[in-house]
Amino acid sequence: MDLQKSPRFGSRIVIVAFLLLILNAALLCNGGKTSSFFRKVENNVDMPLDSDVFAIPSGYNAPQQVHITQGDLVGKAVIVSWVTVDEPGSSLVRYWSENSEEKKLAEGELVTYRYFNYTSGFIHHCTVRNLEFNTKYYYEVGLDHTSRQFWFITPPEIGPDVPYTFGLIGDLGQTFDSNMTLTHYELNPRKGQTVLFVGDLSYADDYPNHDNVRWDSWGRFVERSVAYQPWIWTAGNHEIDFAPEIGETTPFKPYTHRYHVPYRASQSTEPFWYSIKRASAYIIVLSSYSAYGKYTPQYQWLEEELPKVNRTETPWLIVLMHSPLYNSYNYHYMEGETMRVLFEPWFVQYKVDVVFAGHVHAYERSERISNVAYNIVNGLCTPVNDLSAPVYITIGDGGNLEGLATNMTEPQPEYSSFREASFGHAIFEIKNRTHAHYSWHRNQDGYAVEADSMWFFNRRWFPLNDSTTHTWN
Ligand SMILES: [Fe+2]
Repeated sequence: MDLQKSPRFGSRIVIVAFLLLILNAALLCNGGKTSSFFRKVENNVDMPLDSDVFAIPSGYNAPQQVHITQGDLVGKAVIVSWVTVDEPGSSLVRYWSENSEEKKLAEGELVTYRYFNYTSGFIHHCTVRNLEFNTKYYYEVGLDHTSRQFWFITPPEIGPDVPYTFGLIGDLGQTFDSNMTLTHYELNPRKGQTVLFVGDLSYADDYPNHDNVRWDSWGRFVERSVAYQPWIWTAGNHEIDFAPEIGETTPFKPYTHRYHVPYRASQSTEPFWYSIKRASAYIIVLSSYSAYGKYTPQYQWLEEELPKVNRTETPWLIVLMHSPLYNSYNYHYMEGETMRVLFEPWFVQYKVDVVFAGHVHAYERSERISNVAYNIVNGLCTPVNDLSAPVYITIGDGGNLEGLATNMTEPQPEYSSFREASFGHAIFEIKNRTHAHYSWHRNQDGYAVEADSMWFFNRRWFPLNDSTTHTWN
């Protein structure tokens, strides 16, 4: 029998052709996905103050809330911060490298602040400088009374092919979900070496009179990670603490007293915007809640900062901010629009690899798109595919007491590649100058499960299409 002439064979050809057409459409059209993962939505509550994660270390004047961050431009310094409550005590840090018995001392400073009816403990900040790259250091604080010992590992020397793994956490707060997020980050087998934190730390301002006791409890909660690896801080709206009704009119008062950053090293004039280099990455931190219009200090700083980025030295250009520029949830919708209008053309011009933001309590990853053609009269105001543009990732899903953002704009915009209302964290694992593996991990899964992932191709060294859903012409 001649198969070619069989009517059944003919109908099979039609079916196969139809299936190929569907497959083709799936590849050519935007495959943007709204996850169908179902998560029970409950009211989130903060862990009670007597929870073990908030335990006060024992001993007279024992240091608590110990945290570290990068202390200079290149990673040879660390800012060590901690709080003592019984008396001021010593601001010295004793430190020594794993390879040496010689113990050194660094001298820090002490600050305190009052906020309405709250008086802070004695907040110590000490910058430890001239460290060797890629070395494990032990350090001790609380030298006069109860001392406590921790350790950190300095980053490798800056270079274009240096592998390095960043964790991404945002809008963490101090609920049971926050604790799950932190635990999942700690147990993730990809092993983040430094956290890029995209703002909204303690959510103390959700309490009456912004009860700053919740800033202290948050400091004790995250110590188990941030005393051992640096967290790179971004200011969110919950750091503003502007409350004129109770006489508190200095924005960011608790945040700036508790969290120091090395902003002067990048010629910034305020701690809210600055940059650091770490391994093969250049990280620019911006402030959604400081002036950024033309002629403002932040605008001027960024305009001068972007041309300084040498992609031969640090191929990966990463921007952190709190309020996302692209967000298809109904929460905080278009809040990032004014900054987008001002800064997006630069992000495209300087080929930023990825922009991480928080604020929206959910997860979203965009395609590489830009919306920079509009000039008031030409009507060109639709995001378009743009291989020079960053990927925009919203990672505000740390698990704070305000709960999940579940309400999304419909239909999902074409530029939105993946979105899901779940708590979690992400990992950005730089392999070399061309490739980085990115993964998002929801709290409901096992530690190694990647609920969303993407291979990033570097925009300077390998600027090919790296979309997970889009085939572009
Ligand atoms: Fe926020």
